[in-house]
Amino acid sequence: MKTPALAPQSWEHFQSANRFRRAIRKFNSTPLAEDDVKALLAEATCAPSSGNMQPYELHWVREPSLKARMATACNGQKAAASAAEFIVFVASPALGLRTARAQLEHVERSAALGQDSKAYYRKQVGMFQKILGIGSSALWSPLVLLAALIRPTLSLIPIGHIGSRQWAARNAIFAAQTLMLGAAAKGIDSCPMEGFSASQVASLLKLPRGSVIPLVVALGYRADDARIEERWRQPMTDLVIAH
Ligand SMILES: Cc1cc2nc3c(=O)[nH]c(=O)nc-3n(C[C@H](O)[C@H](O)[C@H](O)COP(=O)(O)O)c2cc1C
Repeated sequence: MKTPALAPQSWEHFQSANRFRRAIRKFNSTPLAEDDVKALLAEATCAPSSGNMQPYELHWVREPSLKARMATACNGQKAAASAAEFIVFVASPALGLRTARAQLEHVERSAALGQDSKAYYRKQVGMFQKILGIGSSALWSPLVLLAALIRPTLSLIPIGHIGSRQWAARNAIFAAQTLMLGAAAKGIDSCPMEGFSASQVASLLKLPRGSVIPLVVALGYRADDARIEERWRQPMTDLVIAH
């Protein structure tokens, strides 16, 4: 499939959506259109992920009583209490393995992929299956801890029961950011939240053991009296290091 051409003014549109996006802590009571939420979820699924393993699920909390319990599980934060919608990002090595199987099926079935491409994907997916299968065993975790102690740059390797979950969570964040930028492009506000009780959210969503929840995103339209301070960031000279 050919990559679609970039629409003119894409940069201006991206920049205005990026600047519009703020962490909004108070939403008004305007509901979101169902089609808008569906469109945002569809764009979020286009986010990049390591080896295209998409080791996550996006849980759209729709049922009103579940939403109310979700707000409580988000420590009663105002953003959560006033949110029109919640999208919960759930990640795990098991979800990566599920994708690996689906990806292999897709590769084998594909009439568009040539033999070289198929061989490449078989090898790559096979490697991830090893990493996320045997590699995610807790048996490796003491070794990873030791390696990270000696060489701190190894702290993020996706090996061991914690390393593989952190890898999955890291991947899910790209989908979350895509969703929030997409929301901004539609004039919809969001608040990324990690201030929640992970065990309460896991139990509300009946998540299987081994799942982690990197982020809950509240969506809605900003209230007129939402507190939005001027955006502060470190200067580029501190954040960007040219080599
Ligand atoms: C991983 C992550 C977790 C966050 N958790 C919360 C949260 O629990 N509650 C909240 O009000 N804001 C939360 N925020 C929002 C940040 O405070 C906010 O993005 C930051 O202050 C910068 O403001 P801006 O997003 O409006 O530019 C979180 C942001 C990120 C990226």
